[in-house]
Amino acid sequence: MQSHWFKNAVIYCLEVDVFNDGNGDGIGDFIGLRQGLSYLAGLGVSCIWLLPFFRSPDRDDGYDVMDYLSVDPALGDLGDFAAFMDEAQDRGIRVIIDLVVNHTSNQHPWFQRARQRDPKYYDYYVWRSDAPGNTSNQVAFPGKQKSVWQYDRLAKAYYFHRFYSYQPDLNTANPAVREEIKKIMGFWAAMGVSGFRVDAAPFVIAAKGGDADKHPHEWYEFLHEFREFIRWKTGDAILLAEANVPPEQLTDFFGPDGNRMNMLLNFYVNPHLFLAIAQESAEPIVRSLRALPQIPAACHWAYFLRNHDELDLSRLAEAEREECFRAFAPKKEMQLYGRGIRRRLAPMFNGDLAKALLAYSLIFTIPGTPIFWYGEEIGMGEDLSLEERNSVRTPMQWSSERNGGFSKAPKERLRRPVISKGKFSYRNVNVQRLRREPGSLLNRLERMIRTRKEFPEFGTGAYRILETDRTKTVFAHACEDDAGRAVLAAHNLSNEAESVTIRLWQSEFDHFVYLFEERESERVSDGKIELKLPPRGFSWLRLVAA
Ligand code: GLC
Ligand code: CA
Repeated sequence: MQSHWFKNAVIYCLEVDVFNDGNGDGIGDFIGLRQGLSYLAGLGVSCIWLLPFFRSPDRDDGYDVMDYLSVDPALGDLGDFAAFMDEAQDRGIRVIIDLVVNHTSNQHPWFQRARQRDPKYYDYYVWRSDAPGNTSNQVAFPGKQKSVWQYDRLAKAYYFHRFYSYQPDLNTANPAVREEIKKIMGFWAAMGVSGFRVDAAPFVIAAKGGDADKHPHEWYEFLHEFREFIRWKTGDAILLAEANVPPEQLTDFFGPDGNRMNMLLNFYVNPHLFLAIAQESAEPIVRSLRALPQIPAACHWAYFLRNHDELDLSRLAEAEREECFRAFAPKKEMQLYGRGIRRRLAPMFNGDLAKALLAYSLIFTIPGTPIFWYGEEIGMGEDLSLEERNSVRTPMQWSSERNGGFSKAPKERLRRPVISKGKFSYRNVNVQRLRREPGSLLNRLERMIRTRKEFPEFGTGAYRILETDRTKTVFAHACEDDAGRAVLAAHNLSNEAESVTIRLWQSEFDHFVYLFEERESERVSDGKIELKLPPRGFSWLRLVAA
């Protein structure tokens, strides 16, 4: 049987440079990350997703790769990586890594040769000789990028770049490029990784430079080709794709038989969760879940609240987007690219613990795999003085010691400044401190992770949205596995306490058990259960048959 480990994983995403500095030079590294593993194991993380750590000029935080088969020397070497992998494995933690193959850095040797019109490498990229028209509607970063074509003096031609001009797009239609991609996957698979987060998947398979966003049908097969390759290399390695496309296109990324991507980051429900919290209403959650396509049994969603990029609100209607801006990012400097929010979760919620727990509870119980952005579990803040998306990428806050315990280097040498002012300063917000407080976000999330793992029905069960007498404010759903084990979660989006009656879908259930609250189990009467939910409160229940 095929392993579905990813359906009940708890993923923790981090950037090595800012997680833990093991050698005191101011930059996080693999030695430091290895030391940090005990913390992640204690938290209950079962899979780490590493942002790009390859050799790179680092103009887009490592998403501009110069050498895919290397470790950035500032972070260590392959030996340090192997030692980290070894220890992660010892602790039962899997590792997945970013696969950034829509483009390379313009410093990549492939591109350097292509510019010289080297017959082998020229076709690794996408060129045109005549001047392009206005392409500002195709850029990935509106306001920061003007065109998707850049003239190159050496090649005497324009090259296509979906992202910044120093990130020339690879020509995926060229079989030699796909062989290179497989070689990269094969290399890291041999190093022990359990899969890849496929960066910018829709662009990898888009008709590059041609008709804007068209995906030629056969290009989807490239995704299948990559999946087959990795399956053949390591039976249970996965591909988790970044595919921020409208709901009706998502199915194509999973593939008709689930034979393309194993998981997709759910960029559609994500902004609707924030809208629901802003509106104190369950409606956007239900609406967005209903808009999702049915997905193949072998596949799964991945849910997140914030990530390393801006919170993209472009899938909301304009008035809804404005509402989210008003609620979570009222100042212009908190917004980005006209569509997103460059803040971390805790400050967006003004440090409100109930709101944060409500949001996590949602991504832990809606069928899918939850992903944490490092530092979220302690409620870290952002630094708006840093450029664009770097605001949410400041060093991990371990303790109230100098540099938040991140590094022993002098402050000026840190990769990025540690947050040291205000409510979210490392003096207030750090692992050591939150660990001591029983009711802290960290301890509550640790318990949530443990409970989520105890009840895999949340990940693998068949899922249904339930009827309640509080449609506007309460979102209730249940998950039931093939063996009839059933769990239920109810979320109160409103700012007031609610008493709610939830109708179950069958009459076999006799009583229910609270998974968090210190309360005795209660009877199911007449196929219904009654719950009292505090303001922005939630309950997880196990339903027990007679
Ligand atoms: C993805 C990454 C983002 C990066 C971009 C270009 O969207 O999440 O951080 O800038 O790809 O590689
Ligand atoms: Ca270091």
